Amino acid sequence: MSQHLLTVDSLQRESVDHLLRVAARMEPIASRRQVTRVLEGAVLGNLFFEASTRTRVSFNAAFCRLGGSVCDTTGFTFSSMAKGESLYDTSRVMSGYCDAIVMRHPDQGSVAEFAAATHVPVINGGDGPGEHPSQALLDLYTIDKEFYRLGKSLNGAHILLTGDLKYGRTVHSLIKLLSLYDPMRITLVSPPGLEMPSKLIDLVTSRGHRVEQRDSLASDFSDLDVVYTTRIQKERFTDEMNESFQGLSDDFMVNRDFLDQRCSQSTMVMHPLPRDSRPGANDLNVDLNGDSRLAIFRQTDNGIPMRMAIFATLLKVDDLIEKDLRPVHWFVPAQIGTLDR
Ligand code: NCD
Repeated sequence: MSQHLLTVDSLQRESVDHLLRVAARMEPIASRRQVTRVLEGAVLGNLFFEASTRTRVSFNAAFCRLGGSVCDTTGFTFSSMAKGESLYDTSRVMSGYCDAIVMRHPDQGSVAEFAAATHVPVINGGDGPGEHPSQALLDLYTIDKEFYRLGKSLNGAHILLTGDLKYGRTVHSLIKLLSLYDPMRITLVSPPGLEMPSKLIDLVTSRGHRVEQRDSLASDFSDLDVVYTTRIQKERFTDEMNESFQGLSDDFMVNRDFLDQRCSQSTMVMHPLPRDSRPGANDLNVDLNGDSRLAIFRQTDNGIPMRMAIFATLLKVDDLIEKDLRPVHWFVPAQIGTLDR
C-alpha cells in the first residue's frame, strides 16, 4: 500500500486483502471487548470542508480506539481557507501538528494536491464527485462478511449499483475496488444524465466483468446478491440540472415491494448513507427498516474496524495489535448498535 490513501487506483488486490484481514482483527476492539494503545501519542488531523456525520466521526473514533488523539476542523468558515490560504500552505502547517490527516473537500483532486505537500499519510475522505476509497473498503468488507454468513462468494456475484452514479463518489471507488476481484456481474441503474462515467465502465469491463446498464428497476433481479443504492447528489448539480431534474421517480425506488417482488430472500441492501428521508426524495425506503436484508447499519458499524485497519497499516502498527490487547473495564451493553441482524 502506498504512503497515502487517495484513490482505489493505488490499491493492489493483495493490499486490499491485507486490509480486510487487519479489519477482522480490529473487531474485538470495535465491539468494545478489548482495548489497545498502539497509537498512543499519535495525533490525527481530521479536516472536513464538506458535510459529514459518519465519515468524520468514524475516522475520529477509529483513531481514538487505537489509542491516538484527534484534532479537527469543520467547514471553510472556521478554517484559514476562508482567509484565502492555499491547500499547499494548509498541508505544510497541518503536517507540523499531526501524524496522519483525513481530508474531505468539495473539489475533485484537492486531497491529492494537499497530499503532495506533505510526508504525513493523507486519507481521502471524499473529494467532490471524485473518490471515497475508505468507504469502498468498508463496503467491500461488509459484502465479504455478509457473503460469508450467507455462504456466498464474490466470484460470479450479481451486484446492482443504483441512484446517482455520475456524482456519487462512493460508487466510483467501489466499482474500481470490485473490479480487482474475480469476474462478477454488475448492473447499473440510474436516472438519465446521472449514469456511471464511461471510463469506469470501460475499466471494469476490461478486467473481465460483465457490466449491464438498465434504465429502471422494473425488471427481474431474482439472482441479485447486492443492491447498493445511492443518494442523488443535488449539491453537485449545475443550475441547469437543478431546474430540469424532477426528482427520483418511483421507478428507481428500492423498497420492500422491490425486494419482495423482484429480488430474493438473500438479496442484501446497502447504502453509503445518508439517505434522503424527505418526502418525495424516493431514496432507499424506510419500510425496509428491521428487515434483516437491510445491511446499512451493519455497513456503518463496519466503518470502524476498516478505518482502524487503514490507520494501523499506514502508520505501520498493524503487526502490533495482538500484542497490545487488554480487556475492557467499562460497562458495555450486550447488544451494541443495530438489532437488524
Ligand atoms: C457519502 C459521501 O459523502 O460521499 N456518504 C458517506 O461518506 N458515507 C454519500 C452521500 O453523501 O450521499
